[in-house]
Order: sequence, then C-alpha cells, then structure tokens
Amino acid sequence: MLNAPINSVELEMQDQRHSLRGWADLAVLGSGRSEILVHAEGAYVTDAEGNRLLDGMGGVWCVNVGYGREEIAQAILEQARQLPFACPFRNTTNPPAARLSAKLADLAPGDLNRVVYSGGGSTANDSALRIVQHYFNHLGQDRKKQVLCRSEAYHGSTSVSAALSGMAANKIGFDSPDVGVNVLSAPYVYRRPDDTSEEEFCDLLLAECRDVIERVGAENIACFFAEPIMGMAGVIVPPHDYLRRISKLCHDNDILVIADEVVTGFGRLGEYFASDAIFEMSPDIVTCAKGLTSGYQPLGATIVSDRIFETIRTPMEEGALFTHGFTYSEHPICCAAALANIAIMEHEDLPGHVRTFGSRFREALSRLSDLPLVGEVRGMGFMHAIECVADRESKALLPPEARIGERIATHARREGLIVRPLGHLSVLSPPLVLGDTEIDFVERVLRKSISMAADELVREGVWCA
Ligand SMILES: Cc1ncc(COP(=O)(O)O)c(C=O)c1O
Repeated sequence: MLNAPINSVELEMQDQRHSLRGWADLAVLGSGRSEILVHAEGAYVTDAEGNRLLDGMGGVWCVNVGYGREEIAQAILEQARQLPFACPFRNTTNPPAARLSAKLADLAPGDLNRVVYSGGGSTANDSALRIVQHYFNHLGQDRKKQVLCRSEAYHGSTSVSAALSGMAANKIGFDSPDVGVNVLSAPYVYRRPDDTSEEEFCDLLLAECRDVIERVGAENIACFFAEPIMGMAGVIVPPHDYLRRISKLCHDNDILVIADEVVTGFGRLGEYFASDAIFEMSPDIVTCAKGLTSGYQPLGATIVSDRIFETIRTPMEEGALFTHGFTYSEHPICCAAALANIAIMEHEDLPGHVRTFGSRFREALSRLSDLPLVGEVRGMGFMHAIECVADRESKALLPPEARIGERIATHARREGLIVRPLGHLSVLSPPLVLGDTEIDFVERVLRKSISMAADELVREGVWCA
C-alpha cells in the first residue's frame, strides 16, 4: 500500500467526503479542493500534481531539520522493530525515553530537569497546568488557581489549552472550561497606542499586569503562560525587556512562569530554548513539541523545575501517586525520532545556522517594506510575518473581503512557495536549513505575489495605493 500509485482524484474525493479537518472552512468541505502533498525533501514538498514547493511554513512551524532525513527515518524503523511500545507508568521506561529526558534536561534552562511527555503542544500545556495545580495543592495554597494569559495567544486545541488561548476567532461556537483565565494585553508593538514609545508601551503592559495581580490577588494566581514570540497571533515580538520584567513581576508574587516554546524551541530563534537564553524569563516550566521531533513523530514535552518536582514528590496522602500520564507518554518511537532529530541539529549546528541566516532572512524580508501594502515586517530567526495594511500611516486594515493573506498565499503557491495566510498576515516559519539561494527566492516570490495582489485590489476597486 505504501507505494500504491497516487490517484489524486480518488484521494480528493475521499478527503472531501470524510475528513473533518481543523482550521478548514466546513462550508466548502465536500465541494472544494484538497491540496495533497505526496513527497518532501530538504525544504521542499511536492504535491500530487508534481509541483515542487518551498515549504515556507515548515509544515506547521515544525519541520525544523527539513524533510527526507534518513537518520530519523532509520531511528524510527529500528525502534519500531526493537520495541515499538513500552508502558510509561510506574517504574517502566525504555532506552530512547530515558536518553531523551537526560538530553532535554541538559538543553533546558536553569534547574528544569524533569520531563513529562505527551502527544503534542496542547497536551504539553495541559500537563503544565495540571502540574502547577498539583504543586500549589501540595503546598496547601489551594486558592492559587487563576491563570494569567495574553490576548491573541495560542496554546492549543484541547479544552484546557484552548481556554488558555486568547484568540477570540478560535472560540467562536466552542465552549471553554472555566480555568480562571485573566487575559492581559498582547505585547503588540506595531499596534501599540499612538504617541507611545516602545519603552512606554512596555511600562504600560507591566502596569496592567501589576493591576491584575493586585485586583485578583497574588494569593489566587497560580501561573503566567506565555509564548516568547507569539506565533499564531502574528509573530508578535515583544518590546525589549518585557518578558524578563513581567516574569520577574510574576516571580516576585509567587506566580509560576510557563514558557510555551512549542514553536520557539529547537532552533527556530537560534537557541534550543529561547525563553531564557534570549528573553531571560527564568521559566519554572517549559513546554515544547513541534521542532522536538521536527514533525517526524508526534511528541510534546513539559520540562519542570527541580523545585516543583521536589515539592510534588512527597505524596499528599499515604500511598497517593502522581496520577498524570498518557498511554503514549515516553513513546519509544517518538523519543527515538527526537533523539535523532536533536543529533542532526547538534551535528549541523542548526541553531548557529539560524543565528547567521536569520538576520539575512530578516533583511531580505524587510526589503519588502517598500511595497505600499506592507505595514510591517517583523520576526526573529526563522520566524517572521508580513503585516499588510490599507494605509501605512493609520495602519488601517484592508476590508475582510480583500482576503489579502489568502491572495498573497495563492500567488506565492503558483510561484512555488508556501506561505501561511493568517488574516491580513503572511507568516513564514521554514525549515532551518534555508541558505542564501532559498532566501533570495522567498524574497523574489513574495515581492511578486504582494505586488500582484495589490494590482488586483486596485482593479477590483477594493483599495488604491
Ligand atoms: C505556541 C503554541 N503552543 C501550543 C500549540 C499546540 O500544539 P499542538 O498542535 O501540537 O497540540 C501550538 C500549535 O501551533 C502553538 O503554536
């Protein structure tokens, strides 16, 4: 079956009739088109029609080492033959899981030395919250239940991680469990209040957080969840020193800091973990997934400090166990894939590559700022967004019917580049292996695609330059 010839008509029919896919427009599912990817190599994917495309999305922010890595495929195959599954409970472990835990403890900041595995980023964040609740219950501080999150944040798609997320658009028609969320403003520098410097904006964000802590009471707040750079919100890079200051404010109030590094981890910003190395958050827990295996296997990890571990290791009742874990925690094949993935990153120094080529990437994209539709180009490392506006002075948005992100993505795809449309934004998070040739290509295609979209909008009378 693996090598069965691709019948794209049949596949499309099967997909359109039977899938219920995330972030799809269900109104057209059943009558629309399906994009079918069939092969990938390096930074490129090939679709069922034979088009070879530069994957500017890196899968979904995740294929960090690029596609076609034989070492990872071999590690998966060998582990499947050797031991495809092992019970992850009580005292049982398996070689890849034990080795990966030691590796993650080595790479993670500070005293983050204990790892809980799960199936991906959402469950890694769910695990983080359960551990925080467990920790404060152990300490007898059972009023500490409230959570600080940020507007437009994305922490996942399970009930709890979706509740922690601040994206209104992702909640339409869905219920949210009451996990005591207090939503702080996003550190959206580009859309900060007029006549406010970046420094003043940072002060305002800190003042807001201080007010919330005062109003809710530090004795009632358990933790602060934050992505170092907010991905789904549109690659929001916070103001200088914001994350260090807000994390310190939390720590001063005995509020645990959880860095969601599901996207920013594993080299995307030039470090294995960016929260401390770049942003000085001193997190108590780091969550990661995606780049941990570069998407070759599903795996999430919640890396917990020794302080938390030392507290929760004492049973709350005689014989009580740490009853948090999943059947597929410590999955040997996923852990083997992660180890092979990290070995590639280390061998090729991909974080170092990102530190060098990330600034070239940034410079190339920044040159697009001369296009009248482009309001801001922002990002860091291999994580960038282009924000389109109707008017650069007022930063007014184009009307929704302009579908600017979709338009640009459609043109780019025809030119051989996948970019991710997020409303009026075009997001780029490619594999970390791009060199000068690919970066030039991305710049060239985006310049052409944005210009073509602008011409269309003028022709349709939706916008004038
Ligand atoms: C910052 C962040 N956290 C968590 C998640 C959820 O990860 P997953 O889709 O693996 O559950 C995502 C997914 O995009 C993410 O961007």
